[in-house]
Amino acid sequence: MAKKVVLAYSGGLDTSVAVRWMIENLGCEVVCLSANVGQEGTLEGNREKALGAGASAYEELDLREEFARDYLAPVIKANALYEGKYPLVSALSRPLIVKHQVAMARKYGADGIAHGCTGKGNDQVRFEVSSMALAPDLELVAPVRNWGFTREDSVAYAAAHNIAVSATKEKLYSIDDNLWGRAIECGEMEDPWATPPDGVWQLTKRTATEPCDVVISFERGVPVAVDGVAAPLWELIVALNEKVGSYGWGRLDMVENRRVGIKSRETYEAPGALAIMLAHADLESITVERDLQREKTRLESRYAELVYDGLWFSPLKLALDSFIEESQRFVTGEVRLRCEPGRVYVTGRRAPKSLYDYGLATYDAADRFRHADSEGFVQLWGLSVKTWASIQGTSPEA
Ligand code: ARG
Repeated sequence: MAKKVVLAYSGGLDTSVAVRWMIENLGCEVVCLSANVGQEGTLEGNREKALGAGASAYEELDLREEFARDYLAPVIKANALYEGKYPLVSALSRPLIVKHQVAMARKYGADGIAHGCTGKGNDQVRFEVSSMALAPDLELVAPVRNWGFTREDSVAYAAAHNIAVSATKEKLYSIDDNLWGRAIECGEMEDPWATPPDGVWQLTKRTATEPCDVVISFERGVPVAVDGVAAPLWELIVALNEKVGSYGWGRLDMVENRRVGIKSRETYEAPGALAIMLAHADLESITVERDLQREKTRLESRYAELVYDGLWFSPLKLALDSFIEESQRFVTGEVRLRCEPGRVYVTGRRAPKSLYDYGLATYDAADRFRHADSEGFVQLWGLSVKTWASIQGTSPEA
């Protein structure tokens, strides 16, 4: 049994109750870590709440820059969308938080890592498998999975133990957010036929009425400027969330396959992430050679699955990172997006090392393509099919 654990502490009801519950029921000391990954609201008050619940130490880390640089940049390069849609919002913050929990465990001499996830979701998998990868010696403690409390039980436990919990207006929904977007689950949306109520959307409220253009500049696959203004990636994401989100664009409504085998109805809003991915994939269309682009496309969905399934720190993911990094050597250039109420689309792309060759593509007088070469090429390309057609082929009596 762990003697001292580092808990990923959000400041919410579950993790607050978890602090006291672990002290009382597992007899361990609890150190809390609160991470700023760009979620809504501040961590203000978390220190008092954690220590008030019985934590022996509390640390707060601003991880926004590291999150963008080391976790979001790789998935941008990979065009990683789980099941073709979900930009992996929650799946990305967990490995980062675990990395810092492990560092804190070493600093405080802790022998365990704890989280406040339930047994039904993906986040427990991500916390624990990341921890196994980075620190196989540490014990994994998941109080919420074991205590069997209902929400009412947790509220009562908090009251009985004088644990401060903020008024929870959001108890209808389970929300997780960070720089990369926002996930909203539960409530009436557990019926996959039910329309998500307007009130669930935060980042994609439609307020803009005038169309506008946004130009995203990339260097080696990573955004470096928006409309010519350079800034660190995390700030560009914040700016794009605001700008693109104001057009009411960037929502997802899907039923996804969780790692534990459950199909789950999820709604997301990720205006900045989806705009960046749209632009990035488009820039690749002029900067990445055909076979490399095709192979990369095949690997992208696998990459997204690994990240979703908690395998951020795994040999296959690491190897794919090297492949993807190599593929981005010339993905430098600009993409112009048009934003209109409810709609965002690409209207142009350019790159210093673009493979788009006007002389080859044009049908006008500047055409340099050697048309005559195509005759022999097509003959040989079709030779096998032609042979098949004449011997076994398509005739009804064959
Ligand atoms: N279904 C999403 C995922 O697995 C979102 C999870 C959100 N987490 C939460 N605690 N509400 O990545």
